[in-house]
Amino acid sequence: MAPESANAQPSLTPPHTVEAQKRAAAEAAALLVGDGARVGLGTGTTVAQLLPALAARQLSGVRCVATSPATRSAALALGLTVVELEDLDGELDIAIDGADQIDPTGWLIKGGGGAHTREKIVAAASKRFVVIASAEKAVAHLKAPVPVEILRFGAISTCARLGEVQLREGALSPDGNLIADYLGPVEDPALLAKWLSGTPGLVEHGLFAGELVSDILIATEGGMVHRRVP
Ligand code: 5RP
Repeated sequence: MAPESANAQPSLTPPHTVEAQKRAAAEAAALLVGDGARVGLGTGTTVAQLLPALAARQLSGVRCVATSPATRSAALALGLTVVELEDLDGELDIAIDGADQIDPTGWLIKGGGGAHTREKIVAAASKRFVVIASAEKAVAHLKAPVPVEILRFGAISTCARLGEVQLREGALSPDGNLIADYLGPVEDPALLAKWLSGTPGLVEHGLFAGELVSDILIATEGGMVHRRVP
């Protein structure tokens, strides 16, 4: 990770509440989108603040790909153009999304909203992946829960193989798979990510490697912190 620069987007009134911080980070990210951009939209309450900020910019030719039905309907209701990733030949200029935890090296835990599989596909398809968050999302070390998407077929044996895991009752991914939380230790995120990825029946896990991330915008009481990954 490159060194942090404080107050990259100076604000006259630094945000003191979590909601205000989410809005500030979202508004700063909306400014990174230009005319004609192909934009990946994440899922969650921080992204919900991004959508009006993006719509308010009234950019021309912007086409968005949504990672969940909730984001899709909210974006459409605001007049944003939403298309499928396939319509853009699978390529995006920028993707903007929230996170549940962000560590100092840029590793993330995502999937609080159960959309992390689509979110990871969209992040990987994007030239620039921007993470937006309120201050409490920045942590010294990632820790459980790590959301996982599990295929219905064989879910009992997949969960048994994972061991410390809890199915989220009634929760489904945007693609109709089960959502669970891995509750074991997260001492080495790369090692855990590899093990989770190698577990049959596990569609995708919520650990995002720092290499996927381009920018992290964290709104704090002291102003905006913009971490850039070279
Ligand atoms: C959804 C996600 C969200 O980005 C993550 O859970 C953060 O959500 P919020 O912005 O509501 O705090 O990964 O799958």
